[in-house]
Amino acid sequence: MLITLEGIDGSGKSTLHAALREPLADLAPVFTSEPGATWIGAAVRRAIAEQIDPITEATLFVADHAAHLARVVRPALAEGKLVISDRYSDSRYAYQSVTLQGIIPEPEQWLRAMHNSWTIIPDKTFLCVLPVDEALTRLKPQDKREHFERREVLEKVQNNYLSFARAEPSRFVIVDAMLPPGTVAQFVADAIRVMWVAGKKKRRRK
Ligand code: TYD
Repeated sequence: MLITLEGIDGSGKSTLHAALREPLADLAPVFTSEPGATWIGAAVRRAIAEQIDPITEATLFVADHAAHLARVVRPALAEGKLVISDRYSDSRYAYQSVTLQGIIPEPEQWLRAMHNSWTIIPDKTFLCVLPVDEALTRLKPQDKREHFERREVLEKVQNNYLSFARAEPSRFVIVDAMLPPGTVAQFVADAIRVMWVAGKKKRRRK
């Protein structure tokens, strides 16, 4: 079963990812993240830091995803494991649709087409949502260097995420990221456990 956590920078999804370890320890999940589950992540970080070029950056993020699937996600799912990823394909569809605006005619379609046929669609995606101003105040000054972390960009990215959630209501769960972190983690951990147990029963019946 593949679970992904999404949201804009400062939405608390990495904190949530870390906070799920303890309550879900008995399910022995594979905790992973994008970018950077493999060495391709180093190239991605360098491309971001240098602001090299939006197409280079986007395709490196896609390469990073392909390597993540090959090395981590596919093998774990083949063993029947629970995989919980901090960011995944929706990050590309949400962020690179913004960074490629004006560079590629239909960025979202282009990005989705690049993933179609080989990516694995998550079983559930928890989307952490909060006012962009709050997200910006949560980001530490040293985190604010990335060009994604500007108000106009994050507004557009969050709107993209929300439109994906409207288009796929059965996959997305919107999480109120203004709630205390412990409350959010408990809610998401419980939801994952319920899905995991239901999935196990289904697998046994087959
Ligand atoms: P992340 O590692 O989640 O952020 P942080 O280093 O703050 O924990 O991701 C780094 C940045 O990359 C973040 O601003 C979001 C962006 N990103 C994309 O633009 N596209 C993608 O496909 C992914 C995975 C991340």
